[in-house]
Amino acid sequence: MSRTITKSILIQGGRIIDPASRTDVKGDVLITGGRIAVRGGSITPPDDCPVISADGLVICPGFIDVHCHLRQPGFEEKETIATGTRAAARGGFTTVCCMPNTNPPLDTEETIALVKTIALKEGVVRVLPVACVTRGRKGAELADLDKLAKAGAVAFSDDGSPVATTPLMQKALEYSKISGLPVSDHCEDTALTTGGQMNDSELSKRLGLKGMPAVAEDIIVSRDLLLAHLTGGHAHIAHVSTASAVELIRRAKEKGTKVTAEVTPHHLTLTEDWVTGYNTQAKVNPPLRTQADVEALVAALKAGVIEIIATDHAPHTEAEKKLDFTQAPTGFSGFETSLGSLMMLVHSGTVPLPAIIAALTVAPARLINRTELGSLQVGAPADVTIFDPNKEWTVDPRDFASKGKNTPLAGKTLKGKIIATIYGGRIIYQE
Ligand code: DOR
Ligand code: ZN
Repeated sequence: MSRTITKSILIQGGRIIDPASRTDVKGDVLITGGRIAVRGGSITPPDDCPVISADGLVICPGFIDVHCHLRQPGFEEKETIATGTRAAARGGFTTVCCMPNTNPPLDTEETIALVKTIALKEGVVRVLPVACVTRGRKGAELADLDKLAKAGAVAFSDDGSPVATTPLMQKALEYSKISGLPVSDHCEDTALTTGGQMNDSELSKRLGLKGMPAVAEDIIVSRDLLLAHLTGGHAHIAHVSTASAVELIRRAKEKGTKVTAEVTPHHLTLTEDWVTGYNTQAKVNPPLRTQADVEALVAALKAGVIEIIATDHAPHTEAEKKLDFTQAPTGFSGFETSLGSLMMLVHSGTVPLPAIIAALTVAPARLINRTELGSLQVGAPADVTIFDPNKEWTVDPRDFASKGKNTPLAGKTLKGKIIATIYGGRIIYQE
């Protein structure tokens, strides 16, 4: 990891993909004073300007992750803002929105301020906190959403759990209508999933593991869509995993409901079969589902029914993931394998590369009302990701900057690798 501070950087001869401006051309990008100065064409480097050769590489806006877990404060053995943001940089992310299921949870102005302060001191990318919907994430009373918004929260979520009750979700969406901030919901009817370990299926029966049925997700998605329609607030459906939820979202959008949705790289590429052998590295919530679900999610991404890809980076310790399957925590360390995983969809000819990049840049920027981010337009902050779409590499979690070595992809070869990440005109990662 190098951290070069320079006035100008010239990125030369890459494929510039900037979905915000529908750009896909070969050319150069010049960064000056932390902003995009010139984009496209052939640029003569100013004197003493460092040059990054991007021959055969893609140049695109820095990725924005609207859903990750940085674990600080409270769970520093799993991750810190320092390690998590370095992992983000290695994954091509320049902006990350961290979920509030910390200890204490991010449900006060003070905790939001704490995360922002640590991020400025110790982080290497932009960290935008998501605040709790309910006090303590306990699902009993609403947090002070207005204060949290003024303190800098970009969205609200009780992630890890759904917003517990219908009236609380209704009130949160009423506030969303006023503030313009989305309510991101982890959709799971917990009355149907208590003790659940994996997708509810033939396989869960064979393995003797309690299943988490698709309908548990769909019920809360339905509730949220109805309430968003009623209130005019913005419901954001986190980590959609079922074909049936996709269909509900599609229909709600047709009716004009204010809803957006995100999908993870793992739900787009892996099925429940990865759990076979009681592999705790494949234990995640929502669980990996069936091939039919994966296909519906990919189709929804292509069609724009799901507009955002989010990692749900959820680091855990090695000791925790070594527990018995029923005791091990859910989640994958996602930042550093995201691009390589997503490129499978591109290399198989299933999803065009610009669609993947749009879901990692312009679409998440819109969700968090930060449209100056997620684009390479001249004058925009110079958050730039450069990657080799064809470079093969083998996942070795020991190389992760994240403390979380928990990934089902260890030992797998991926095709597509981040070469450099630039944040505000500084190189924060270079291979
Ligand atoms: O797998 C998950 N891990 N899903 C969640 O919703 C929470 C997350 C975590 O915090 O570990
Ligand atoms: Zn979640």
